[in-house]
Amino acid sequence: MAKRDHFATRLGFVLAAAGSAVGLGNIWKFPFMTGQNGGGAFLVLYVAFVLTIGLSVMLAEFAIGRAGQRNPVGAFRALKGGAWPAVGGLGVIAGFVILSFYSVVGGWTLAYAIKSVSGALASNDPKILGAAFGAFIADPLDVIGFHAAFMVLTLVIVAGGVRHGIERAARILMPILALLVIVLAVRAVTLDGAAKGIAFFLTPDFSRVTWDTVNAALGQAFFSLSLGMGTMITYASYLDRQVNLPKTAAQVTLLDTGFAVIAGLMVLPAVFAFGFDPAAGPGLTFITLPAVFAQMPAGALFAFLFFALLAIAALTSAVSIIEPVVSYLIDERKMSRRAATWGAGAVTWALGVPSALSLGPWKDVTVGGKGILDAVDYLASNIMLPLGGILITLFVGWSVAARAVDEAQSGGAHPFALAKVWIFICRFVAPAAVAWVMIQGL
Ligand code: TRP
Repeated sequence: MAKRDHFATRLGFVLAAAGSAVGLGNIWKFPFMTGQNGGGAFLVLYVAFVLTIGLSVMLAEFAIGRAGQRNPVGAFRALKGGAWPAVGGLGVIAGFVILSFYSVVGGWTLAYAIKSVSGALASNDPKILGAAFGAFIADPLDVIGFHAAFMVLTLVIVAGGVRHGIERAARILMPILALLVIVLAVRAVTLDGAAKGIAFFLTPDFSRVTWDTVNAALGQAFFSLSLGMGTMITYASYLDRQVNLPKTAAQVTLLDTGFAVIAGLMVLPAVFAFGFDPAAGPGLTFITLPAVFAQMPAGALFAFLFFALLAIAALTSAVSIIEPVVSYLIDERKMSRRAATWGAGAVTWALGVPSALSLGPWKDVTVGGKGILDAVDYLASNIMLPLGGILITLFVGWSVAARAVDEAQSGGAHPFALAKVWIFICRFVAPAAVAWVMIQGL
C-alpha cells in the first residue's frame, strides 16, 4: 500500500482542522440560528455544549483517527471491529447529506462575491436587500449553477490530496478571513442603533428557552465543530504520533467558537441597527451584511473580499465534509482518489438540487414543517451528528478506553491531566446528555 499522505507540520494540522470547523456554520448558520432562537440564551447554551460535549467528542475523534490511521469505517474496524465500523458508515452517509446543502449555500457566497463587484448590493434598505436575495434565490439556473461551481471547486481541492490541497489553502486564507471578520464586527457594533443587537446577542433571557432552543444549540455545536460524522477522525488519521491531541482539540475549539461569536457581533448588531428581522432564517447574513458594507468607505471592495473569503472558508469546510467519503472509497473500495472524488461529488451535487430549489421555486414544499434545505440540515445536524456523537463517545468510553487514553497522551509523550474526566464524559455525560436532548427534541 502507498504511504498515507500526512500533514507536514502540527500548525498545518491545526489550520486544516480549524479550516474544517470554521465555515458557513459560523458565519451563515450561527447568526441566523441565534436570531431565530432568541439571542443570548442560545449563545450560552451553545458555548456550554461546545466546552463540555464538543471538546470531548473532538478529542475522541482525534484519538480514534490517529490510532486507526484510516477512514472512519476502517478506523473503527482496526481498533475494535464488530458492529462498530457501522458508526463510520453512518458518518460516510452523513457526509453526502451535509455536503448536499452545504454546497448550495457555498454557491450563494460565490454568487454574492460576484454581485458585490457589480455594486448590485449597495443599499441599506431592508426591503431592497431582501428583494435582491429573494430574486437571486428564485432563479433556479443561477442557484443550481453556483451550487455546481462550488462543488467543482471543492472536488478540485480534494482530488489534489490532503497535504497539497487542504493544508495550503487553510494556512494562507484563514488568518485573512479572521482579520476581515473582526474589522466588520467593529464596524457593526459602532453603527447607530447597534446597542439593541448587542444586548440581544449577549444578554441571555432564559425564560424564552424551550427544548427546541436546547436542541438547536446542541446541533449547532456539532455542526460548527465538524463533529459526529468522522471528519476529525479522517483528518487525525493523516497525523503523526508526536502531536499533542488535547491541546490541539482545545485550540481548534476556541478558534471555532471565537469565529462564531465575532460573526454574531458582525451580523446581529446590524440586524437591529437597520431594522431587519432577526428571525429571517437562512438569508440573514446575506441580506444584512450588504447594509453594513453600504455604510463603509470602499464598501464594494469590502463586500467582495468578505464574500470571496467566506466562499474560501466554506471550501475548506466542504473539503472536510467529503474527505471522509473519499477516504472510505479509496481505503475500503480500492478506488483511485480521482474516481472517488468525482463520483462522490456528482452524487452529492444531484442530492443538493432539491435544497437549491427550496428557497425559490419549491419554497412551498415542506418536510416536517420545514423547507427542504432546512429539513436536510435538521436531519444532519440534529439527528445524524448527535447520534454519531453518542456512538463515538460510547466507543471511546467503554470499548477502547485504555487505548484511547494512550493515544490522547501520544503514548506518554504528552501527559493529559484530564484523561479521567474525559473518559467519564465519554462514558456517561455526553451519551446521556445528547440522547436526552435528542429525545426531547423529537
Ligand atoms: N464545521 C463546518 C462549518 O461550520 C462544516 C463542516 C465541516 C461539518 N465538516 C463537517 C459539519 C462535518 C458537520 C460534520 O461550516
